[in-house]
Amino acid sequence: TVQHSNLKMDLGFAVLFIGIAALISAFLLLILGVAYSEFTNSEIPPGVAHPGRLRLIHGLLIGIAIVGKIMEKMGTWSQVGFGRYMRDHVFARKGGEDTQLIIKDLQFEGVPVRAYQPKTPNAGKRRGVMFFHGGGWMFGSINSYDSFCRYVAKETESVVVSVEYHLSPEHRYPIQFEDCLNSTLHFVNSSENYGVDDARIIISGDSAGGNLAAAVCQRLVSRTDLNPVCAQILIYPGLQAVDFKLPSYVQNHSVPILYRLRAIFYFLHYINGEVTLMEDVLAGHHVPVEMKIKYRKWLGPDNIPEEFKTRGFTPSVATAHDEEVYELVQEAFEPTVSPLLAEDATIRKLPHAYILTCEYDVLRDDGLLYKKRLEDNDVPVTWYHIKDGFHGILSYFDWGFLSFPSAKTAIDDIVSFIKTI
Ligand SMILES: *[C@@H]1O[C@H](CO)[C@@H](O)[C@H](O)[C@H]1NC(C)=O
Ligand SMILES: *[C@@H]1O[C@H](CO)[C@@H](O)[C@H](O)[C@H]1NC(C)=O
Ligand SMILES: *[C@@H]1O[C@H](CO)[C@@H](O)[C@H](O)[C@H]1NC(C)=O
Repeated sequence: TVQHSNLKMDLGFAVLFIGIAALISAFLLLILGVAYSEFTNSEIPPGVAHPGRLRLIHGLLIGIAIVGKIMEKMGTWSQVGFGRYMRDHVFARKGGEDTQLIIKDLQFEGVPVRAYQPKTPNAGKRRGVMFFHGGGWMFGSINSYDSFCRYVAKETESVVVSVEYHLSPEHRYPIQFEDCLNSTLHFVNSSENYGVDDARIIISGDSAGGNLAAAVCQRLVSRTDLNPVCAQILIYPGLQAVDFKLPSYVQNHSVPILYRLRAIFYFLHYINGEVTLMEDVLAGHHVPVEMKIKYRKWLGPDNIPEEFKTRGFTPSVATAHDEEVYELVQEAFEPTVSPLLAEDATIRKLPHAYILTCEYDVLRDDGLLYKKRLEDNDVPVTWYHIKDGFHGILSYFDWGFLSFPSAKTAIDDIVSFIKTI
């Protein structure tokens, strides 16, 4: 028994030691990240909600990126792999079973999905909500959005299906899109099995997932053999890879957690990984002049209401294009990558859209321009603008002392919208 208790003591010490080590590393990560992000001119303008909390969250993300880089240099773990692990397992709040939901991990056409079904009895069939997570097509997972999906499934009493599409840089366009499309088609086809009415399907996503949701909705309008999608919910979506000098990309382009250059980095990694072209794409060298003229009617800053230009905006001077750059990033002009560039014939058939934008988000104007295109084509739009919001804010609706009240209010608005469908 002496030996036994010794072993117990050793174990106790080991656990304590690991706990302390974890705490110290988390703390170091944070210090490192905050210091670095201060250093790299992150810009938190006065109007942003809870600047201190945003700074801490950003610091944490930068800290993870730095430690990931160090690990990669040492050959222990890839930077992307470490970043995903921390986001999905350390900072994601998830807890197995749920008293109010049946939660199942499934495969739809080979794509991993998690389905959340309310346990409460329902007289008729429910609505179904497809959800594509954000993370620049590179990060994010079912786990990192588990708490969001549970909340929506419970509050709206809908069946929510969250999709684990393939990520870049290992997998490139169009796999992400096809995973979302294929899993959606499967869900529509098998909706009976989940007690879902296939005439009440909503397609939703945030950030890169909002891009995928918009693209899937556009693809489905041509499917006359299926019931039309009922509504689309686009949460601060990225909708075009043509003009990175729209007002929102110019104003406060380094507000955490998505800098303008980072948005271009994700786009390039999504389509082909030619990240050395970031500066060229920022300057618009990839857009031939005839395309600039063609797209002006949709993307021109005249389409952005004046109230959004008060934070300083001077229209950019058109620069000559570079044929080589154009050839390398041609996919940027496909509507599947840039849904804002779809023809009116497609736009006009789209379902009711709920579009959420944030004031301090480089992607704000993508949302505003899509709103205008839909309205010009008589598609109903419900628009929600978070005046003190930054890109990604909804992910922090339930992060304890790092939560943002305007994120909670926005999610509840989304819930109210879903309930009207
Ligand atoms: C999606 O489904 C189509 C048709 O079944 C198939 O050809 C394609 O390979 C699928 N895409 C992926 C990424 O699995
Ligand atoms: C869904 O059903 C349609 C029509 O029955 C069929 O053409 C299609 O292949 C099915 N798709 C999937 C993903 O099951
Ligand atoms: C950033 O935001 C502040 C406050 O809203 C504004 O005064 C400033 O002009 C913005 N910076 C740029 C470069 O537009």
